[in-house]
Amino acid sequence: MNLPAFVSGITATVGSTPLVELARLGGSRPFRVFAKLEAYNPGGSVKDRSALEMIRHGIASGRIVPGRSVVVESSSGNLGIGLAQVCAYYGVRFVCVVDPRTNAQNIAIMRALGAEVEVVTRTDAATGEYLPVRIARVRELAAATPYGYCPDQYSNPLNPRAHRTTMHEIVTALPAPPDLLFCATSSCGTLRGCVEYAREQGLGTRFVAVDAVGSAIFGNQLAARLIPGHGAAVRPALYLDGLADEVVHVDDASAVVGCRQLVAQEAVLAGGSSGAVVAALERTRPRIPAGAACVLIFPDRGERYLDTIYDDDWVRRHFGDIAHLWKQDVMETATC
Ligand SMILES: Cc1ncc(COP(=O)(O)O)c(C=O)c1O
Repeated sequence: MNLPAFVSGITATVGSTPLVELARLGGSRPFRVFAKLEAYNPGGSVKDRSALEMIRHGIASGRIVPGRSVVVESSSGNLGIGLAQVCAYYGVRFVCVVDPRTNAQNIAIMRALGAEVEVVTRTDAATGEYLPVRIARVRELAAATPYGYCPDQYSNPLNPRAHRTTMHEIVTALPAPPDLLFCATSSCGTLRGCVEYAREQGLGTRFVAVDAVGSAIFGNQLAARLIPGHGAAVRPALYLDGLADEVVHVDDASAVVGCRQLVAQEAVLAGGSSGAVVAALERTRPRIPAGAACVLIFPDRGERYLDTIYDDDWVRRHFGDIAHLWKQDVMETATC
């Protein structure tokens, strides 16, 4: 079948992201490594799939009416950008509630796409985190705004449903289903969508959830985190016991090392959670069977982290002199 030479409208470019073998990262190891580059979505991240699914379904079901409804959502960046783009496309007003940790470039992109951005400045008294305050503010705004609608990525089944396509694309691209799939987590939408697809199809893939040290999703003790994207201060409603076959918690320094190693070995400029996924692969490496195919989902691109992960001074200030860890055979010695 011939593929069409063009598609109609920007939303038609969501999904069908490249799957790339990373032979250098695999090195002399007896298994193969593939990366699903979600940065190739039009808004630059894995969350474009969720944004499109939630808004398109909202419109189809009559819950969202272009020109009248106001979509209100909490996001630290990527979902906000995805929603800003999809809402702009469909002519829906969008208000995104963020916090001071959201980087200025993400806010500027959302605004450039026509979104209104509200920054909460208070943390939750019980946890010291912004997320509970952001979520409460979204509920308040959605209730107070005529025709307000909150998709609620943390509980909306359309979020994981969007990622069934991710797993379908991976399985279709490879000669056989992957043996292992490494997936960063926050709302659990990506992980749950991929897991549910794989279990329904009886693929036999083992899922490794990659969470941040200090994130509450898999019951870790809450602690401060510097890298946005993966991890959550509250366990999301989409979480299910037994969702992952294995969980690996990665600290911020190891995520940075993973990102820098990706550049050094594969010339891939990826975001912080992708670095965490690389660190998790390295931690799991001694137990990966010979001949296995491992798929890493890389949720976003590195350009959004130029002031942090890819800024040598920032890295030195927060983690000390760790540059030697990605200069040679980085992950042999990484402290993940
Ligand atoms: C960079 C990045 N990595 C990982 C995730 C986790 O994805 P999910 O919400 O599907 O668990 C997100 C979610 O926003 C993200 O922005």
